[in-house]
Amino acid sequence: MASRAANLYGVPAIPVVAMALEDTALAAALAFWSLLPAYVANPMAVVFGGGTPMDFGRTLRDGRRLLGDGKTWRGFAGGIASGFVLGLLLQGIASVASPRTSFGAWPGVLGILILLPFGALLGDLLGAFLKRRLGLERGAKAPGLDQYDFLIGTFLVLLLLAPAWWLPRFWTGDGIWGLGFIILITPVLHRVVNVIGYRWGHKREPW
Ligand code: CTP
Ligand code: MG
Repeated sequence: MASRAANLYGVPAIPVVAMALEDTALAAALAFWSLLPAYVANPMAVVFGGGTPMDFGRTLRDGRRLLGDGKTWRGFAGGIASGFVLGLLLQGIASVASPRTSFGAWPGVLGILILLPFGALLGDLLGAFLKRRLGLERGAKAPGLDQYDFLIGTFLVLLLLAPAWWLPRFWTGDGIWGLGFIILITPVLHRVVNVIGYRWGHKREPW
């Protein structure tokens, strides 16, 4: 019956696999939790959006808008504020739950909680800029860019400005599982949230 739980080296195989799976699942859950302030930024920009466009109506030499009417100051500020407030709430929960769910130590954590939604909306702006350069109108589909622009923005901003925060969560050790999980679920989440936004009348297109 040695094969039931032990491998060649006499190490119980099943518990090892189970532990590895547990670590992977934990890394994935932590990565998702850590990105919630970034995830809410875009939907909240839709809720708060309207008014003066961020490019003030400016057109580039290609005859297209710099960003377009879909990127407004109100959406940008509302999205960042929402992500920050959610982050404070989650940090509050973390302080009574588990230190592993913490976003970091005070006061530096405040910077992280701003950078997360800021990075997301910066990525969103970069996506809009690229869409306009490709000649795509506001709201036109850009597969890949629509789903991942905010994630790329978040990752770049955090990697550049807070690598000590980003690397253990999304790169080193089990963090890489977190990155993989986020890359897999983001298009699914994006689709679900946009369909809900569209049905509720907040979004003009279901993507
Ligand atoms: N929004 C905003 N300000 C932002 C981001 C979004 O006001 N910084 C609002 C706009 O009303 C926008 C809506 O949220 O139309 C949906 O956002 P998004 O899908 O990112 O913009 P699109 O309208 O699809 O425009 P684009 O083609 O430029 O992505
Ligand atoms: Mg869009």
